[in-house]
Amino acid sequence: MTQDELKALVGRAALDHVVPGSVVGVGTGSTVNHFIDALATMKERIAGAISSSVASTERLRARGIPVFEAAEVERMPVYIDGADEIDARGHMIKGGGAALTREKIVADLCERFVCIADASKQVAVLGRYPLPVEVIPMAAAQIARRFAAAYGGQALPREGVVTDNGNLILDVRGLAIADPLAMETEINQWPGVVTVGIFARHRARICLLGTEQGVRTLAFD
Ligand code: A5P
Repeated sequence: MTQDELKALVGRAALDHVVPGSVVGVGTGSTVNHFIDALATMKERIAGAISSSVASTERLRARGIPVFEAAEVERMPVYIDGADEIDARGHMIKGGGAALTREKIVADLCERFVCIADASKQVAVLGRYPLPVEVIPMAAAQIARRFAAAYGGQALPREGVVTDNGNLILDVRGLAIADPLAMETEINQWPGVVTVGIFARHRARICLLGTEQGVRTLAFD
């Protein structure tokens, strides 16, 4: 199977985790695009969606799924999204599509994060994928220097990318993230950081992993 076929497989499998009658938290990316297409087949059985990006909102609406503002919903049962890397405890790197801030906001509204990913995203230690960090533009150089000093990471602005919130993305290479929760907590304190793409506080509770043998369900306690 191609990587895209594996993404489509888990996108469809995620329907089993949608709670009928509820509002669904919807992430961003090519795997989620398959999920949105699958979700359209049961749109009469859900109340609608809260979306984590302009791109996902447009896709949801184009398929006739009502999209609400985050302020309209207090709590949702499930958030479904992809990942750039996921470790054995459900910690993730996210933000390859530059939507990490809204993804974390919507994930925070949900009881359970269901990650959908092809098997290439599974890693022992996070950090081979460059860590995305959304930053206020005036702080970008300062934050890049701090990554070098604190972690020996090389942070470079992602060229030509402005986030849905009008900020920049730094991609940080050369990290081995042994303690994702500690690193997320520390980087969150740096002035000018909007969101770091480590999802440890908002880690996945379930991962549907697309493999050649089919969908493997990983449950993290
Ligand atoms: C979007 O900002 C990301 O967090 C995506 O969830 C992540 O990059 C996975 O993307 P794909 O599903 O396209 O691989």
